[in-house]
Amino acid sequence: MIVRYFEPHDFEEVMQIESEAFEEHNPFIYMNFYEMNNDCFLVADYNGNITAFVAGYQMSENEGRIFSLAVKEDYRGIGIGTKLLEAITDIFKKKALRYASLEVRLSNNRAQGLYRKMDFIPCWIEHGYYSDGEDGIIMKKIISPYTKTTVEKVLSKQSRRVKWPALKVNSIF
Ligand SMILES: CC(C)(COP(=O)(O)OP(=O)(O)OC[C@H]1O[C@@H](n2cnc3c(N)ncnc32)[C@H](O)[C@@H]1OP(=O)(O)O)[C@@H](O)C(=O)NCCC(=O)NCCS
Repeated sequence: MIVRYFEPHDFEEVMQIESEAFEEHNPFIYMNFYEMNNDCFLVADYNGNITAFVAGYQMSENEGRIFSLAVKEDYRGIGIGTKLLEAITDIFKKKALRYASLEVRLSNNRAQGLYRKMDFIPCWIEHGYYSDGEDGIIMKKIISPYTKTTVEKVLSKQSRRVKWPALKVNSIF
């Protein structure tokens, strides 16, 4: 199995996996992904058959969003979801993004299990996020922590600027 960029001829297979996996189905979104974010649109190709896809985009200066991830039913539970999640996280890292984020249905224990395993942390609940009224959990993962050097640079700049008053320990008590 190889993970590669989505290509237009994969469209039909990707849409088949998508409609099998999700109730809300919108092919136009995926056409847009290809046109606007094709470096974050990946497929798992198993001997020429598409078994899974992941689509994401750069949401802000520091954050990459995983919009959609799905594995063909017969191929679930053998690590393909993990591989795709690792691959898109690597792409976000190369783009120097600091976080990966996603939303997942409150009832989707399987996907939540995968995300927790991959160090995504549940951050907050979006009430009624989905069109059927179900809540969504926003999960995030730190993918590129601030390096010591960056922190040190900021701190040293600050300490040059701020003149601390002389500390009078006795006056506190
Ligand atoms: C969620 C989904 C993408 C996972 O893909 P997958 O290829 O089956 O996942 P993997 O085989 O890589 O499994 C990875 C981890 O998921 C977790 N997991 C798998 N099945 C699980 C289950 N039934 N309950 C809880 N956690 C589960 C485990 O942590 C597993 O790791 P492990 O095998 O080391 O224990 C896939 O099930 C899917 O396409 N589901 C339908 C679409 C969907 O829900 N997408 C996510 C929308 S947010």
